[in-house]
Amino acid sequence: MLGTINPEILFLQQEDQIKAGLLDMKMILEITEETYKMLGLGQIQNPPKTHIGIPEPDSWNSFFNTMPCYIGGDYNIAGVKWAAESKKNANTPGIPYGIDISILSDPETVLPFCILDGTIITAMRTSAVAGVQAKYCAPSDTKTATLIGAGVIGETMVMSVCEAIPTLKTIYICDIDLPKAQKIAEEYKGKYEGVEIIASDDSKACAAKSELIMGETTARTPFIDKTWVKPHSAIVCVSNEADKDVALMADVKVVDYWKQMVTFKNKAIVQAFDAGEITKDQILETSDLALGKPVRTSDDQFIYACSLGLGALDITVAYKIYQNAVKMGLGSKVKMWDKPLWE
Ligand SMILES: NC(=O)c1ccc[n+]([C@@H]2O[C@H](COP(=O)([O-])OP(=O)(O)OC[C@H]3O[C@@H](n4cnc5c(N)ncnc54)[C@H](O)[C@@H]3O)[C@@H](O)[C@H]2O)c1
Repeated sequence: MLGTINPEILFLQQEDQIKAGLLDMKMILEITEETYKMLGLGQIQNPPKTHIGIPEPDSWNSFFNTMPCYIGGDYNIAGVKWAAESKKNANTPGIPYGIDISILSDPETVLPFCILDGTIITAMRTSAVAGVQAKYCAPSDTKTATLIGAGVIGETMVMSVCEAIPTLKTIYICDIDLPKAQKIAEEYKGKYEGVEIIASDDSKACAAKSELIMGETTARTPFIDKTWVKPHSAIVCVSNEADKDVALMADVKVVDYWKQMVTFKNKAIVQAFDAGEITKDQILETSDLALGKPVRTSDDQFIYACSLGLGALDITVAYKIYQNAVKMGLGSKVKMWDKPLWE
């Protein structure tokens, strides 16, 4: 396929991708670790995402991010995710809060060869990154996890922690909107052997009983503060749940990708860095974890990890789904042209 001058594009909608294995969290976790290893080894170009907030960059009602990358190694593909979120969607039945689309391109001819809905890929890979961080950051005997936010990412977070933390016995799934948490608890009841899933709207009380706390909410201001912090635990957030004190109190601090994170000035860990309260050498990246650098050195430590989302991971997952879909004959084909007008 690579190097072709055939201007054919395969379009993969969500249903095709699900048939091609997208809901296999074990596979997504493996791709996630592999992608972060490649990032750490310098095989991936992933400039920081660019952000357009509407109406204003910082007080947005909706936003769009562009997330371009080149993946080297055995992949040799270029790609971009056009990622968006809308507050209005959060209260509109029938449409997700976050909606994404990705393009995969041949790096030699630069022809796009696949366009995919990126919405489920985003949910799977976001929770997979948190799952990989939890695997390395949670105490070794973690039995109880509190997941805060029972939306789309909350759904995939249940899958991710169940796969990544084999010692897990209890999950509290929490949301200010209790019926949403109850719906996920019901849906996953009995799906992971030996793991009980309990819905709650009191995330702080559940967190107090948990070694692992995961944040995946749409809260615009942090609500996890120093009163939540305790030894022998980890807090892993995909959004703005934890404040700066939480980052500062952590014995080990982890981000997904510092080069990008440092450009987002509203992130708690970046505020601590910009204020001179922590230095870069106190921060581990997820590629360090995947490459085997020591993370937790004692079960008594408190560890904080956070993520912003790596475009390259959307593209490595998308490429795997594309390869599966081609083998299975899935998707619809469209053409850029029959014959290019000018060449
Ligand atoms: N780090 C990444 O790579 C990445 C990628 C995609 C999305 N995200 C973030 O994940 C978050 C969740 O996205 P989603 O698509 O699941 O949204 P969603 O609207 O489907 O779900 C969010 C849930 O959070 C709940 N919530 C809001 N404030 C809360 C609070 N204070 N306590 C408990 N629950 C609360 C809402 O009621 C809702 O059920 C968003 O902030 C999004 O920006 C991060």
